[in-house]
Amino acid sequence: MKAPGWALTGVTAGSEATAPGSIHIAEVTAAYGGPAVFKRLDLDVDPGQFVYVVGPSGSGKSTLLKLMHGTLKPQSGSVFVDGIAVNSLRGGQLLKLRRQVGHVFQTYELMPYLSTLENVLLPLQLGHPQLRDADAYAVDALELVGLGDKLKQRPGTLSMGEQQRVAVARAIAAQPRVLLADEPTGNLDSGNSAEIVELFRQLNGMGSTVVMATHDEVMLSRYPARAVRLRPRARRPR
Ligand SMILES: Nc1ncnc2c1ncn2[C@@H]1O[C@H](COP(=O)(O)OP(=O)(O)O)[C@@H](O)[C@H]1O
Ligand SMILES: [Mg+2]
Repeated sequence: MKAPGWALTGVTAGSEATAPGSIHIAEVTAAYGGPAVFKRLDLDVDPGQFVYVVGPSGSGKSTLLKLMHGTLKPQSGSVFVDGIAVNSLRGGQLLKLRRQVGHVFQTYELMPYLSTLENVLLPLQLGHPQLRDADAYAVDALELVGLGDKLKQRPGTLSMGEQQRVAVARAIAAQPRVLLADEPTGNLDSGNSAEIVELFRQLNGMGSTVVMATHDEVMLSRYPARAVRLRPRARRPR
């Protein structure tokens, strides 16, 4: 049986902050107990946009994505993702958000003893127990990333690029409206990196909002899109 398809397009417009698929960050200051990583940052991403977050190491790319994902609370300001006020969520609601918003990281942490299919299917079933035909969704996602013929294989038998594609399939299996990716190509060679970015662009073409942190300027010139640039962190005055 086939999953009902990527019903991501045709998102209805709401207000700037609450529109499904949008991201609205206003006056956000983020810190880890010490000096702020950034202060009073504003960022608006429209539903269906593709945005790079660019900046040197330590400039706050991961911090910005963690704020969107609810893993880090801002010191002040507000964060809305997919219409949800992330900064005021707690416990169970946060888990719901994390199930609703797809995310891919540099290290993909697949379960070595599970097959490709199980690596996508089990988190999907755990996160969405009410979902019928979870198998079809998982297979659909793996076909989309070009791994439809490797469903039974274990991660150890796949190349690095293929393993990252399993992680992408895992992130998109529930067909999220927003996909966050933190240097997803950081461990890949240029050929595999290009494949991952092409995949994100394909998902974006299907209606998903994509935010991708990277420090790879070559990728930006090869696949141009809006780029949000974070400045290197200012040195503390002596
Ligand atoms: N868990 C943490 N605890 C304390 N400081 C952190 C933590 N994570 C990141 N930082 C600091 O926040 C700044 C931004 O880091 P990060 O967002 O990881 O940057 P990037 O992803 O652009 O390399 C850096 O100075 C880093 O040392
Ligand atoms: Mg980072």
